[in-house]
Order: sequence, then structure tokens, then C-alpha cells
Amino acid sequence: MRAKLVIANWKMNADKAMLAKLLAGYVAAIKPPVKAVACPPAPYLAQAQQQLEGSAIALGAQNVSQFEKGAYTGEISLSMLQDLGCEYVILGHSERRSLFGEQDTDIAEKFVATIAAGLTPVLCVGETREQRQAGETDSVVSSQLDAVVNVAGIKSFEKAVVAYEPVWAIGTGDTATPEQAQQVHKLLREKLAESDADIAQRVPLLYGGSVNAENAEELFAMTDIDGGLVGGASLDASAFAAICAAAN
Ligand code: 13P
Repeated sequence: MRAKLVIANWKMNADKAMLAKLLAGYVAAIKPPVKAVACPPAPYLAQAQQQLEGSAIALGAQNVSQFEKGAYTGEISLSMLQDLGCEYVILGHSERRSLFGEQDTDIAEKFVATIAAGLTPVLCVGETREQRQAGETDSVVSSQLDAVVNVAGIKSFEKAVVAYEPVWAIGTGDTATPEQAQQVHKLLREKLAESDADIAQRVPLLYGGSVNAENAEELFAMTDIDGGLVGGASLDASAFAAICAAAN
């Protein structure tokens, strides 16, 4: 049995007061055995690290540079994330791909660097509405996954998470049905199994895209859905705690 994992992606939303209140809500309401991870915006990681100390909630970042250090104005390195107690890094989120031009090759480099630094990458894949309508879902997510497996190697997935986030479901309220999500998760696991069946069985596959307190339970009940990557609903502590409870 794979343990359930639920990750909160706050995207570019927070201020000091909101962070303090939201994390206090998480700490009070989220109960094991589900593993929960909070990914606030980078300027608030230090505050989050302090507040989460001694709690069961892990800390993650929403992005990282593939470069180690030096003349990369505006970037954030893996050693900085380590210094701030981050255990997870979201990579290749569709907003990074579509708004900031991140390519599969950048994402693969970031993935390799993240594994080398001992953090857990959360690799996001997903198709747009047009791609789904054109029947391209399987080929799109397969090639996004392959681009990383081919560079990083299947062994690096011993310590990685993959999140299926259909672009058409992100922030739209238009959640994939449990069956639609399961179908893609099954495909992703089969793709991984082509390289290593054992590792494929152990990689947590998360679903993201309009997960909320109402739909979480039926999504998480599917065989290959091991938890969620939650955007909007993670900005409400009681909604996020309910999603975590659904994973339990
Ligand atoms: P929403 O939950 O707001 O749809 O966002 C999903 C997401 O992009 C999480 O990374």
C-alpha cells in the first residue's frame, strides 16, 4: 500500500498574517497518517519553517533553479531550499510551462538537481483542453514523463512524486472525473513500469485540478490515485484539512 500524500500549492498567494493563520489551521486540523506538505511562496519559506517546526506537516517549494549558485539573478537554489527546511519541490507545473516558458529539458535538469540535493521532486504533467479533445492526452503526458525518465533515469523515481494535473481542470472548478483521472494515472504507472515495475508500484501519483473537500474522497478512492496536489482549496485551512481527512 502506498501512503497517501496531499500537497498544498499556494501559488502566488500569501502575506505574513495569512501564512501564520493558514499554517496554524493546518497544524491544528491535519491528522496522520496522511502526509501533508505546504508549499507557500518562496519569500515566506523561512516563516513557514519556523511555524511548522515539530509539526507533522512538511515544507515544499513551488519551483527551483537547476543551477547551483552564482550569477542567476532572481533565481532560488536547492541549497537555499535545504537551508529553509524544504523537503519537496514542485517541478514543471503547467503555469511554469505555459506562462514562463519552461521546457521539458529545463524540467528534467531541475529534476536531476533536486534528486542530487536529496529533496523530493513533484513532477507535474497534464494536457490542455484542446489536446484532450484531439485525443492526445496519453501522448502528451507520456512524452512529458519520458522527457524526465530519459534524462534522470528510472532509479531517481525511487524518491519522486508525479502529479497529473490536467490543465483544463486547474482553477476552473471543472474536475476530472475519478475515472478520467484513474485512466491517466494507470497509464503513467504503466509507463514507469516499462522501465522498472517495482519502482512504478511505489511512486506516489497525485491528482491536481479543482480538488475540493467534496470531490477528494472519490478521487482518492481510485486504485492509482495516491493523493492530491491542491491549489485553491489549500488556501482555506478547513477545506484543506477535509481533503487530508479524505485521504485518511
Ligand atoms: P486548483 O486546485 O486551484 O485547481 O489548482 C491545482 C493546481 O494547479 C495545484 O498545483
